[in-house]
Amino acid sequence: MINIAIDGPSGAGKSTVAKALAKELHFVYVDTGAMYRSIGLYTRGAGVALASVNAETVVPLLAHITVSLAYAEDGSQHVYLNGEDVSAAIRENEISLYASAVSKIPEVRAHLLSLQREMAQKHNVIMDGRDIGTVILPDAQLKIFLFASAAARARRRTDELHERGQAADYETILAEINARDEQDRTRDIAPAVPADDAVKMDNSDMTIEENVAAIRALLVQRNLI
Ligand code: DC
Repeated sequence: MINIAIDGPSGAGKSTVAKALAKELHFVYVDTGAMYRSIGLYTRGAGVALASVNAETVVPLLAHITVSLAYAEDGSQHVYLNGEDVSAAIRENEISLYASAVSKIPEVRAHLLSLQREMAQKHNVIMDGRDIGTVILPDAQLKIFLFASAAARARRRTDELHERGQAADYETILAEINARDEQDRTRDIAPAVPADDAVKMDNSDMTIEENVAAIRALLVQRNLI
């Protein structure tokens, strides 16, 4: 199987690029963030307050959590929490915070590791996350570490919110992005850092199409497609 790992900080466009490339190559796109979000959703539903999310409160819940993935006709990923499709529910803003909190617990990461590896053993995958190239798929044939300047990400996010007709202040968004980057980079477990053999790609000045083309060129260069 061909495994492509795409890691990088939040908001670098990993899922957009990975989805587009997976569709084009007929690979399975695996969004591992959705799995952490599902555990975050369950944790909130179990009545654990965000400030109380830790190993003591969450580890006992894991025995009751089964996360699975299925794919629609159009190739889009659906994530199931104990058999229920939670693909929409996990996109809530508060669930991003729960996902971030549960993802710091080693037992949570271990709970999801086998599902992630299993997907990569069974299918040609493009898997996006934070530790795919470093921990989950160390033998992936191509590892990309995707990033963009905080300014570029803040600009994209501001534009996206404006397009949806929502209020958005560039400076506030930039400050939030910087704070989240710092937290992601300095955490002890699975920090968003590139694998030694990852290709580092700065997409600050790339369109989505240019970014997809750049990764496709690497796949061709390595005789993978
Ligand atoms: O990519 P995302 O925003 O959906 O990820 C949600 C959270 O899960 C985010 O805080 C980072 C964390 N995460 C992780 O620790 N490891 C992964 N492989 C994917 C996501």
